[in-house]
Amino acid sequence: RQLIIPKRASDPPTVFHWLPFIGSAISYGNDPLNFFFECQKKYGDVFTFILLGRRVTVALGPKGNNFILGGKSTVFNAEDAYTHLTTPIFGKEVVYDVPNEIFMEQKRFVKVGLSTDNLRAYVGMIEDEIDEYLRHDPHFKVYQSNDINEWGSFDAVKVMQEITILTASRTLQGKEVRENLNKTFADLYNDLDGGFTPINFLFPNLPLPSYRRRDIAHKKISQFYVDIIQARRSGKTQDHEHDMIAALMQQKYRNGRYLNDKEIAHMMIALLMAGQHTSSATGSWALLHIAANPDVAEALYEEQIKNFSTPDGKLRSATYEELRALPVLDSVIRETLRVHPPIHSIMRYVRDDVPVPPTLSAPSKDGVYIVPKGNYVLASPAISQSDPTVWKNADKWIPSRWNDAEGVAAQAFKMYTDEGGEKIDYGFGAVSKGTESPYQPFGAGKHRCIGEQFAYLQLGTLIVTMIRNLELKIDEVPEHNYHTMITMPKTPRTISYRRRKFD
Ligand code: HEM
Repeated sequence: RQLIIPKRASDPPTVFHWLPFIGSAISYGNDPLNFFFECQKKYGDVFTFILLGRRVTVALGPKGNNFILGGKSTVFNAEDAYTHLTTPIFGKEVVYDVPNEIFMEQKRFVKVGLSTDNLRAYVGMIEDEIDEYLRHDPHFKVYQSNDINEWGSFDAVKVMQEITILTASRTLQGKEVRENLNKTFADLYNDLDGGFTPINFLFPNLPLPSYRRRDIAHKKISQFYVDIIQARRSGKTQDHEHDMIAALMQQKYRNGRYLNDKEIAHMMIALLMAGQHTSSATGSWALLHIAANPDVAEALYEEQIKNFSTPDGKLRSATYEELRALPVLDSVIRETLRVHPPIHSIMRYVRDDVPVPPTLSAPSKDGVYIVPKGNYVLASPAISQSDPTVWKNADKWIPSRWNDAEGVAAQAFKMYTDEGGEKIDYGFGAVSKGTESPYQPFGAGKHRCIGEQFAYLQLGTLIVTMIRNLELKIDEVPEHNYHTMITMPKTPRTISYRRRKFD
């Protein structure tokens, strides 16, 4: 969308820029968080910046998060903001290619597939998959040699990307996807993934080879899933009671219609993409910090010994419920998502003029600010998650802040939950009902993440399995790379490891 809207007196302050069309694209693109913090100092919590011809109004802090994420989908609209990026990848008739009410029904179908029963069944499968990976993957040759004194090394992101897709396909995606992973599926996935970049977001239709490869890959992957579904419908393949395809095949819309093969195929692609980068980035950051903080690694290991030692000196597997009740592990994941939330910008398209509440931004001399129709709005929970007025040593990764009942994290939450009323347990990561909170790595409101429990399970099992088998080491944790859609660690991100000695 190109916007040619003349500036009005009620518009929120516009960030100063030299180049009319480009606006603040370079500062935002290189380091969005630094850009937002700088703008916040100059203009307050609400301001508009120009991003390649678009006007983007940012609202910061817990109240800003609430304004945008709690806004009505008829005015702050997600499909208008995202469909040009996601529909060529996921396909038609799902997610942002359909009206919000239909997508909300589709989210409900996915929740059925992510039932506690299914998640319980996944723990052992994920553990198996990671054990196998350590035993056979070339990154872990030194581990495989059984020598406890020699150190090897691996690239945190490469390993996490592989483990994430292996574990997601073994569980959610199902047997057929897992069996084809090392064959054609991996190449198709990479071509599809090549369409999920900031360039695709900013320029939906460029005549580039990567756009063509994305479109071909979409057709082939979609057909691959349709074939799986048809083979299952005809009874040719069995043994898939816990996966998502099985769950989706039984779901019907409120009007009584069952999901068709294409819809199921496209929802499976959407889930694959939604979970892959977010979980692999979080897993990479967690391993990097654990490697840089041997005391935390030791605390994690001690927690395993305390809870899972068997009389014969081994460690037994944790159940789903046990995994969720480990305070050190929980704090490591929470803190990693506080410092490195994978999604730094959550966008919506503004379908109608919306006044900015005076509690969020003091009115200008011309009266209350109005976000004009045709702008985009942007929420960045990453800003409130690293706000030094909320978090002590905000830029430091300190998992113990989550276990200290009197600590800063607990205090900050008390402040917001008391204000917001009822404290409600949505599971890991949630702190208060509603959309006003300083901690929202999984978003909030209608579009909140539904993969949170699955991600927690995947990440928890990953950390536990790594900690039980390896000692990790790195001199320093890399900085953020913001040039990808999902915030990744810059290279080098090489972790040294050796086989853990058992005492
Ligand atoms: C939505 C984060 C893993 C599926 C979201 C949103 C965030 C998020 C911030 C809100 C987006 C918005 O409001 O525009 C994360 C993080 C993850 C993670 C940090 C891992 C650490 C997953 C996984 C799945 C998944 C594993 C699937 C199994 C979804 C879906 C939505 C969503 C379906 C809904 C999108 C919408 O309603 O518009 N996620 N996610 N996510 N996520 Fe996740």
